[in-house]
Amino acid sequence: MNVSFGRKGILPLRHFLDFDRLDTPTLRQILDTGLRYKRGETPHGSDKPLAGHILAMIFEKPSTRTRVSFEAGMKQLGGDVIVLLKGDTQLGRGETVADTARVLSRYVSAIMIRTDAPSKLQELSEYATVPVINGLTDDTHPCQVLADIMTFEEHRGSLAGKIVAWSGDGNNVVNSWIQASVHFGFELRIAAPPVLRPGEHFVDKAQAKGGRVSLYKDPVEAVTGAHLVLTDTWLSMGFDNDDSRPKLLAPYQVNSALMAHAAPDALFMHCLPAHRGEEVTDEVMDGPQSVVWDEAENRLHIQKGILTWCLL
Ligand code: CP
Ligand code: NVA
Repeated sequence: MNVSFGRKGILPLRHFLDFDRLDTPTLRQILDTGLRYKRGETPHGSDKPLAGHILAMIFEKPSTRTRVSFEAGMKQLGGDVIVLLKGDTQLGRGETVADTARVLSRYVSAIMIRTDAPSKLQELSEYATVPVINGLTDDTHPCQVLADIMTFEEHRGSLAGKIVAWSGDGNNVVNSWIQASVHFGFELRIAAPPVLRPGEHFVDKAQAKGGRVSLYKDPVEAVTGAHLVLTDTWLSMGFDNDDSRPKLLAPYQVNSALMAHAAPDALFMHCLPAHRGEEVTDEVMDGPQSVVWDEAENRLHIQKGILTWCLL
């Protein structure tokens, strides 16, 4: 792997890839910076600290929140963006990720990528000479989970010692929650149909590092006493629409009956987009325990924490 230097050419590059590649003080710093931006402070001494910086964003899958929050965040901090949608670049015609990384690094200050295979994110980060940000892969979605953590902390304080329950598909978002368990001291309970559980290596690795993660078949058991209940789509982008999913996942729907087993002041979160009537009911999405709009807003603030950590 080549060691590249960024941030004025003297300090090692700061990639934002996954929570298992970042330390707890760094994550804390990003969260605190994001919160300070939300409060209208200027943690970097200027209200345009990213002036002159351009972020390239490669989207191989669709996006609303990630695209708009990164673009708004860069522009609000004085920077700019170039959005590269699927089909826009020569990646689709066989130019390698490594060569794309080398070239984009000559034009922009950082690269965000939303893609399928995590190996593409890895290759980009190995060959880029500017910071690379993981905007979602088939495996993980760390920008989202940092915004979720920020949202919980705003409403309820520290996650340490709390119970976080996931009910649904064992996907990229829950994988990042599994990795987060190593850093934030909460207990993570995941209820999923056995065939749709998250990858064993995520669970094993987190447990080996002290993360408290357990798998459940019964969503009621997982949610009982939880302080935060989470779910996500039954079918993530790019995955095969297998007819068996709705039947397998229906018992994991987050509805009022399931929420009734959580702690009385439990919060509900969903990374969005939601499929109302499938993984979550209107009653829960629009109910008093739901903080999904704060969660979506916090994507903007946390992106500022991530971007300034990568670039300044
Ligand atoms: N939650 C999230 O990442 O949303 P988008 O797919 O709209 O970016
Ligand atoms: N798990 C979902 C998250 C979307 C933000 C997906 O990958 O489609």
